[in-house]
Amino acid sequence: MNSTSSLLDTVALKKKLNGRKFGSKIFTFEKIDSTNNCARALAGCWAEEGTLVLAEMQTAGKGRMGRSWQANPYENLTFSLILRPTLPPEALNLLPLYAAVAVAEAIEHETGLSVECKWPNDLLIGGRKSAGILLEGSLKEEGLDYVVLGIGVNVNQTTFPEDISASATSLRVQAGKEIDRVRLLREILKTLEIHYAAINKKGFHDLIPLWLSRTRMLNREISVTQDGTVLSGIVKGLSPEGALILDAGGTEKTLFAGDVTILGS
Ligand code: BTN
Repeated sequence: MNSTSSLLDTVALKKKLNGRKFGSKIFTFEKIDSTNNCARALAGCWAEEGTLVLAEMQTAGKGRMGRSWQANPYENLTFSLILRPTLPPEALNLLPLYAAVAVAEAIEHETGLSVECKWPNDLLIGGRKSAGILLEGSLKEEGLDYVVLGIGVNVNQTTFPEDISASATSLRVQAGKEIDRVRLLREILKTLEIHYAAINKKGFHDLIPLWLSRTRMLNREISVTQDGTVLSGIVKGLSPEGALILDAGGTEKTLFAGDVTILGS
């Protein structure tokens, strides 16, 4: 076995985490349906904030908008983290932006690559998707009960299924070298934890400019598909709630969800 065909070394990860809250409990699976499903079940049984569910292989890995997430085992990172934010339910639209900024910073730290954010939940390198985020939340009467933050990063995979081969990439392809998954995951958990402390304390005020500084969507023409409806327009910014603000032929539109295609790129 070489390093790209062995299970992620969670003992080494634990040591590197050095007592941090995110990753303080780790559940590792060689094969599972979806780490998000498992984390949701654990969160419903009062698993602590920071609990991490990791898998090499997902038989029903979930992407946004009902799509699937496929990733070769032993080459990538597919994991879910349980959060119990002290934030109002409206924060569900902003939490993906927080996660995108934190994961982008970690990837840059470990690889030197430049990572771009694409609204709402994608990370691009060289214009291609290298990571995706799927947030699933549960509400209680007073607000958010828990949030499961599911993250898939294409780390060392070098070939992709035909349907995504033109739009997907990996850190290894972009950096031209194998990436240490344990170091990368440790860095992701660290940056997630640091930004999480800040948003719980001060809200998303400082986070939105960080996300905006990482996107090339501003002033570009895009089309957004949502529930079978397509809307085109020029990106004008983000609302304080994390919605995308579009100028659609002179009318301002505020979008909270959708699938974005950047036109003319
Ligand atoms: C997307 O880009 O559509 C979101 C992809 C999210 C994939 C991750 S992999 C770990 C976690 N478990 C899942 O079933 N999905 C997320």
